Amino acid sequence: MFGRKFEVNKLKSWKNLEKCYKKFAKTQMRDLFAKDSHRAEKYSISLENLTFDYSKNRIDDKIKEALLQLAAERNLGDKIEAMFAGEKINQTEKRAVLHVALRNRGHAPIYVDGKNVMPKINEVLAKMRQFSEAVRLGKFTGHTGKKLTNIVNIGIGGSDLGPKMACEALRRYWAKDMKCYFISNIDGTACAEVLNKIDPEETLFIICSKTFTTIETLTNAKTCRKWLVDALGEHAVAKHFVAVSTNAKEVAKFGIDVENMFEFWDFVGGRYSMWSAIGLSIALAVGMDNFEKMLDGAYAMDMHFKNAGFAENIPVMMALLSIWYRDFFKFGAMAVIPYDQYLQYVPAYLQQLVMESNGKSVNNEEKFVKYGTAPVLFGGAGTDVQHSFFQLIHQGTSVIPCDFIVPAISHNEIGEHHEILLANVLAQGEALMRGKTTTEAYEEMIKAGKSREEAVALKKYKSFSGNRPSNTFVFKKMDPYALGMLIAAYEHKTFVEGVIWNIDSFDQMGVELGKQMALSILPELQNNAATSDHDGSTAHLIKLIKDLRQ
Ligand code: F6P
Repeated sequence: MFGRKFEVNKLKSWKNLEKCYKKFAKTQMRDLFAKDSHRAEKYSISLENLTFDYSKNRIDDKIKEALLQLAAERNLGDKIEAMFAGEKINQTEKRAVLHVALRNRGHAPIYVDGKNVMPKINEVLAKMRQFSEAVRLGKFTGHTGKKLTNIVNIGIGGSDLGPKMACEALRRYWAKDMKCYFISNIDGTACAEVLNKIDPEETLFIICSKTFTTIETLTNAKTCRKWLVDALGEHAVAKHFVAVSTNAKEVAKFGIDVENMFEFWDFVGGRYSMWSAIGLSIALAVGMDNFEKMLDGAYAMDMHFKNAGFAENIPVMMALLSIWYRDFFKFGAMAVIPYDQYLQYVPAYLQQLVMESNGKSVNNEEKFVKYGTAPVLFGGAGTDVQHSFFQLIHQGTSVIPCDFIVPAISHNEIGEHHEILLANVLAQGEALMRGKTTTEAYEEMIKAGKSREEAVALKKYKSFSGNRPSNTFVFKKMDPYALGMLIAAYEHKTFVEGVIWNIDSFDQMGVELGKQMALSILPELQNNAATSDHDGSTAHLIKLIKDLRQ
């Protein structure tokens, strides 16, 4: 759609970055900090209460400038504008990409195919408000008149991870009597474990599926429907099931009145959809006012992304740093470590956002790319992960840039807990950056009373190479607004990376092959049909499993 044929790794700015890398690769961050006492202020960007400190990265002004040139050479500004204007930047699916319209709190019109999408979006938001308030106030009740206090979201991927992550992040804002559950996995255990805990009379199921054809979601929805009908009868369905989808036809076919359907649109990608009615469980749990505060936070980040100069633009700098490491240092992974228990599902959410969006090898000109695209993203809540994978992060042979996320104030300021947590997040960033030389390790041991012999034997084991990059996000408190800002920042970072890598961040064709093959294996497991056309290992495993199940 952008019309020019070229290869990103042949751009002048790319070549320049290769040269910069050669000169800079050995530079130590601890030396950069020693030379410049203002480094932290210089390499930090604040937006309202949120600060993005990227000073512990292997960059200086020249590198930053070279990275900014890459953004300019990729015409990033035009592409940002194209997204906000509703152009069809999802080129393989010929769709606009308008999660930003879902939180367009300024309500300026946004046109797709000549039609303003804002009235429909606002209509659905109003319907969400009306419904969530009616449920929360006990005006919309279950079939037997009981208040609906168990919210069960049935969905998978983008129809699960966003709402699940946000509900957990905002747990402190849940109405006292409301409980949220999430069923995603086709594993019957996922259904069974939730259904065992809840009373059908008090349960509202939200079936979330953009396409309403996803086998996991439809199978789970059918199981839950049967469970409810067995308990309360067929007539109860209308009071206990609602759907969120773009596919009214399939919703009706499933047996849900389209009156009980909340619409969204094909210009909203699954992994970008928690701002739409896919977030209904969030609105039910925390109330529509809080849901809208989350939209407000995302909108603030959208406006920052759209309007701030690239040198002072949080998502742009996040993306440029990520590309610097992925394509020039060739680091293959990154970790996201929220130091907030309520943000424990953020890494799982970001895995889909980043790896489904940018885990691609073919560019927008139908050519295989000759550079790295999305890194492997993993993570978990600090401090837990310090006691699991941090050994590798500090001393492993791979360098894994980290994002640390931490609120200054906890919702649970109990004793010293939060101060200890804060000390830990700060210590991790500093330790990764500074490291510890063998001499430092040796001297430390001698000071602690170890013999020279012992200190010599252990000094390498106890040394840390350091120079390992990290970003730190600090904000005041985990509230709906901060969550909106944070998640929108990662969305836009992902978009910028896709623009620079010249890939379509908005399709997900890589998930199709496995789905297709599962459909062909299913009858072979169910019937005694002979296994056909599989490699030896798969055919062997099919036989083995069938034997075990007999
Ligand atoms: O399998 C990948 C995927 O298509 C995701 O992109 C999407 O979020 C998920 O499946 C669920 O899809 P749907 O909302 O259509 O059920």
